[in-house]
Amino acid sequence: MIVARTRTGLCEARATLPGPVGVVPTMGALHDGHFALLRAARRRDRSLVATLFVNRTQFNDPSDYAAYPRDEAADLAAFETAGVDLVFAPSVEEMYPEGFGTRIDPGPIGADLEGARRPGHFAGVATVVAKLFNLTRPSRAYLGQKDWQQTRVIDRMVRDLNLPVDLVIVPTVRDPDGLALSSRNVRLSPEQRQSATALWRGLELAVSAWDDDERSPEALADLVRITVKAEPLASIGYAEVRHALTLEHVAVADPPLVIAVAAEIGGVGLIDNVVLGEGLVVDESP
Ligand code: PAF
Repeated sequence: MIVARTRTGLCEARATLPGPVGVVPTMGALHDGHFALLRAARRRDRSLVATLFVNRTQFNDPSDYAAYPRDEAADLAAFETAGVDLVFAPSVEEMYPEGFGTRIDPGPIGADLEGARRPGHFAGVATVVAKLFNLTRPSRAYLGQKDWQQTRVIDRMVRDLNLPVDLVIVPTVRDPDGLALSSRNVRLSPEQRQSATALWRGLELAVSAWDDDERSPEALADLVRITVKAEPLASIGYAEVRHALTLEHVAVADPPLVIAVAAEIGGVGLIDNVVLGEGLVVDESP
């Protein structure tokens, strides 16, 4: 496995890789959710590139950036075990040299939900992901379902800017009690972690109501809200039922649909979602 720290080093190493090339962009602190992305890429692509960069510009809260878990040695070892061919692990100066000034505004699709909770977040994501795609030149990029709005922002950007990459959205990986894996989970105390399962419990209630033919977006969202609000340690950010692709409000809860929830527990921001509809995420079952 080659580890490139500079754009020049990356470019040289990338030129040696046989295609098709898949890229898995990460901010490190790897967990099984990332390994699912790497496995999905290994199945489809001949060469596998991973990026490892904690992108300051997508953190609207400096304390969240400072607290973001970092363990580069463990991450590099995990990439090697997962069969990654090339890791791009640049410094902040390498990604944002003196004079850097361009920002990609993702428009309405990044404006509310996480965009409202974290102003500037999706401009930071879109800008760094465009740079990472340009530098790594992948055929396919692998993104996790848990950050559903992020997948929609990147999809919009790829179409709008005609970037030659196909996106593969891989299902959320969960702990046995349903908690969606996230690099931020390590910051939860055992009690907070227990409260955090409310996000999934609420989503499960909404899906089971939908299975019983409930088609009111507000009634479905209320089931999620009530479940999260019942947790004294949790403060609800939003629970929303939206069109899965455009993220617009819907009058009737018909697929393609996303039920998205955000909450803060002990100062840690958590998100989760379910998507209803065919072909929105890949089927990775054996
Ligand atoms: O999902 C993430 O880890 C980040 O937002 C990404 C896509 C690597 C961009 O920094």
